[in-house]
Amino acid sequence: MPSNAPIGFLDSGVGGVSVLNAARKALPNEDFILYGDSANAPYGTKSEEQVIDLVRNAAHILMQQGIKALVIACNTATGIALETMQKELPIPVVGILPAIRPAQKLRKEGDILVMGTPNTVKTAAVKKLMETDGEHVHLLGCPGLMEFVEKGELQGLLLHAHLQQLLAPYLDKQIDVVALGCTHYPFLQSAIAEFFPESTQYIDGSVLTLEELNAELTRLDLYTDKTAPGTTRFMTSNGEETIRLMEMLASR
Ligand code: DGL
Repeated sequence: MPSNAPIGFLDSGVGGVSVLNAARKALPNEDFILYGDSANAPYGTKSEEQVIDLVRNAAHILMQQGIKALVIACNTATGIALETMQKELPIPVVGILPAIRPAQKLRKEGDILVMGTPNTVKTAAVKKLMETDGEHVHLLGCPGLMEFVEKGELQGLLLHAHLQQLLAPYLDKQIDVVALGCTHYPFLQSAIAEFFPESTQYIDGSVLTLEELNAELTRLDLYTDKTAPGTTRFMTSNGEETIRLMEMLASR
């Protein structure tokens, strides 16, 4: 039966807004709630047990809001906690992973650079993707990078210097595609693009996430039957400033 309940999104912080933005475009009549766990970010350098506990907690906060489906809009949390959440929650749960397979379709004769958190590039889910689609792929864990987005710093000298240090080993290679494997990184795309030729393409995993969400909502007949534009609500474990940052990123 059609449902007018909201779709919940969770992330370790404000990065989930990049996936939410794609969802709002694709599903304009749905209502959304995003919970950003900025007070406990980053997830990318925490232990698996810690990440599972934090994701479980964030998911329960969203469940209390009566969500009909959950999108784990965080590559790190998906890699570590997706299966646990799918087992524990009574609603459909989908996640996001680095878009390695779609990146292979865009690759020409050069390589693919996958940027993710230190945890994401080590997860079994990414290892599995590497077994099937890992040719010409470099995995790069990027400690300290999501923190720039959490501070609303999407440009600037400090960010440029941080990226320079991370990207240095790849700057003499032909990088055809950069897979932005952390939901914070699409907001840094122009800062990252300063290091690569114009022909380099950028991709994130949100297309696949939306395909999976669509499959679940269709299978369970959960799409809204409202025809009015949907609403979006932001929640955070942090303060008002984080909500304002999410609103700013949602307007991009
Ligand atoms: N936005 C997150 C991701 O997609 C994680 C950033 C972090 O908490 O380290 O991986």
